[in-house]
Amino acid sequence: MSGKYTVTSLLEMKQKGEKISQLTCYDYSTARLVDAAGINTVLVGDSLGMTMQGYENTLPVTLDEMICYGRSVVRGCQNAFVIMDMPFMSYQVSPAQALESAGRLIKETGANAVKLEGGAAVTEQIKAIVDAGIPVCAHIGMTPQSVNVFGGFKVQGKGEAKAEQLLKDALAVQEAGAFMVVLECVPPKLAALITRQVDMITIGIGAGVECDGQVLVYQDMLGMSGDFTPKFVRRFAEIGEAMQQAFADYDAQVKSGAFPQAAQTYSKSDCDDAFLAQLEEKYSKMRELSLK
Ligand code: KIV
Repeated sequence: MSGKYTVTSLLEMKQKGEKISQLTCYDYSTARLVDAAGINTVLVGDSLGMTMQGYENTLPVTLDEMICYGRSVVRGCQNAFVIMDMPFMSYQVSPAQALESAGRLIKETGANAVKLEGGAAVTEQIKAIVDAGIPVCAHIGMTPQSVNVFGGFKVQGKGEAKAEQLLKDALAVQEAGAFMVVLECVPPKLAALITRQVDMITIGIGAGVECDGQVLVYQDMLGMSGDFTPKFVRRFAEIGEAMQQAFADYDAQVKSGAFPQAAQTYSKSDCDDAFLAQLEEKYSKMRELSLK
């Protein structure tokens, strides 16, 4: 497809059984590459707190920071549908707070939709945002903003009661108006069941192949996140290693004088050599005098 992806075209993809790709993205240069690669939807995730800002979890990220990263991503995406994550405490307080935050995210970045974490507990927030004309992606299962409740990043929906609760959460966010839901760290058979039971798009991360689409954090799939790789990540390239090697080569060549060479140097000067020699002599003398 050429042209910008929309809620309608993405829902059509689900109906036709076409898989939907999603990657996180936080800056303009990467957004251009992701967009040119044909990725359908880009998520400006609050995972940027960890990948870009070096925090232990996503909780410290602010709305203003999200807006700053989001603007850069939107400028780099011609076709991809851009979804802005709502950071911790920018929507939990009330539907009014959620609407105000979602409004800022859309108005100040130019993105196409917002994402928030939670199931039945946040349906009033979802309704308020959708009623204002802003598409909403929900996020259930392992919701990183609740890391202190879960006691770590763990698989959710294990056991009969929890499995049914996750299905109820999916149905509740759909009923509230969500057009898409991220299923994070959900057992694959349960994710497949949810995908069959809902009309909205399911995007899996650690939720098996039967979701309507998949999302990964781009640093994880490029091997840029250090040694720890979650089980659900496939490393599609070792860009981290390649970058580190390039930085080390540059460092060595700067120090040895091997960089820059003639090819990286502007050779033509407006002044001739005789003038530069006179200039040097004049300033060397002035320097000598000032040192006396
Ligand atoms: O913040 C994020 O990047 C996310 C994805 C991992 C789904 O929520």
